Amino acid sequence: MPEKASTEFWKDLKPIANSTKPDALPEVYLSKVATDDDRYYVPFTETVGSRPLWINVKDNSWSDILRAKSAGLVNRHYHPHEVFAYTISGKWGYLERDWTATAGDFVYEAPGEGHTLVAYESPEPMKTLFIVKGPLIWLDENGDTAGYFDVHDYIDMCRRHYDEVGIGAAYVNSLFR
Ligand SMILES: [Fe+2]
Repeated sequence: MPEKASTEFWKDLKPIANSTKPDALPEVYLSKVATDDDRYYVPFTETVGSRPLWINVKDNSWSDILRAKSAGLVNRHYHPHEVFAYTISGKWGYLERDWTATAGDFVYEAPGEGHTLVAYESPEPMKTLFIVKGPLIWLDENGDTAGYFDVHDYIDMCRRHYDEVGIGAAYVNSLFR
């Protein structure tokens, strides 16, 4: 039961009994995820951090808050699968596209897109919720494949960082679904 209702028209509604199937996994609920607490942001590049929210090993997917406190760069890469983004604050874009995303902006990237993510200097840090269907394929300056980054690299990177900052590597496992 969430917070008790007082005057809301639905206040006497009964929740569904046995609302989850026996084999269903529990939901993930995390409060105020776009925090300013630096410990939660795993360094992804020198200038951009990622806070994992949800990790799906089977589908090689994850959701995160990507953050750059000032100018930031995630260098050129290719996505064989789709990516969704919702901008919480700051300003960012891709060198290859003509829009600039700010708070409230949504982006869907269809499978088959290469791009270079840049965050601008702005009064607020750039924070964006991403849902990434991995992997990222790193590209060199000629657009040729230069390596990859998938959910397994993401998990390893997050575990190492959370261990270092005292949150504990096990926190990462609590996000697996
Ligand atoms: Fe990307």
